[in-house]
Amino acid sequence: MTLRPESYIDYPRWPQLAREAYSLDLSHVQEKLPDKVDGIVISGMGGSGIVGDIVRDYLSLIGYDKPIIVVKDLQLPKFVTSRNFLVITISYSGNTTETIRCFEECVKHNIPVVAISTGGKLEELAKQHNAPHVKIPKATAPRYGLPCLLYPTLRIVGLVEKSLESKIREHAESSIKAIEEAAEDYLTHFKDLSKRLVNKIVMIYIPQPLISIGTRFKNDMNENAKQPVVVCPLPESEHNDIAIHVRKFDFLEVMLVRSKSLEGTEYEKHVNAVEQVLKQYGIDLHLINLKGDNVLAEIMYGITLLGMLTIDVAHLVGVDPVKIEVIDNIKKYVSK
Ligand code: F6R
Repeated sequence: MTLRPESYIDYPRWPQLAREAYSLDLSHVQEKLPDKVDGIVISGMGGSGIVGDIVRDYLSLIGYDKPIIVVKDLQLPKFVTSRNFLVITISYSGNTTETIRCFEECVKHNIPVVAISTGGKLEELAKQHNAPHVKIPKATAPRYGLPCLLYPTLRIVGLVEKSLESKIREHAESSIKAIEEAAEDYLTHFKDLSKRLVNKIVMIYIPQPLISIGTRFKNDMNENAKQPVVVCPLPESEHNDIAIHVRKFDFLEVMLVRSKSLEGTEYEKHVNAVEQVLKQYGIDLHLINLKGDNVLAEIMYGITLLGMLTIDVAHLVGVDPVKIEVIDNIKKYVSK
């Protein structure tokens, strides 16, 4: 099955963008990386910031035992300045105030920092301060350029944590295949689901270790279809969100995400429990079974499939998925 490029924006190009971004020359970055780090900080907002969530979930699930701090804020946590962390600042445009501030903080406190962007002020600042900058390929908008942002970040992690390098390469390759599989599966099995989600609020129940998929789905639905989503992490939502199901809401649709990577863990028990209980309360659940032979592949499978779904919802509700007028408006007030 082939994707019609015009209807799914950059998604048909994701495998190609991922391969291109993964093979960028990073020798200038490698030269400047510290030999050893106490942890990794990833700073970025929105479509750039999601890279931090993905990398945190992925590294945690493969057993990386150092802190991975995701910063979606105007400042770095204070403890970062006193330890040997590597900070990766990511901004697709290179012009996001919050990310620029974090970069500047690194310069001020002499913290090793790498900048990733298509250009913008971040590139200029990196040049000015002799910090490594990765210039990534362009897409239609930051969120559609996820592979361009994610794969170089994974490479950098592999360069600084050498023992993970070959594993990351192998997982990255199969995650690109998972993107292809997700696009196929979406068109064959999930496209009709978009009709059910029109003007609805989706609650997405998802195991906490894979929360990046839920966050990305929420952000995509917000930005593409201009619709709200409630992300319900398991087990926490078993203690609050789930309580609402004694009432019936016409505006609600419920999804549950299952992962093979979490089979045999306590999380599987929680996913099964939630499925069973929601059925008892008459909820017509939409099950999303992640595919992929490692956790990165599962994450990219879920993100691709659910992202395409939000584009179809956008088309069905009659909004332009690319335009994000309100975000552009707010940036005028806060940009430096
Ligand atoms: C737009 C999008 C936004 C941006 C965010 C930060 O497609 O996804 O969430 O990513 O406003 O901008 P950048 O990525 O340029 O730093």
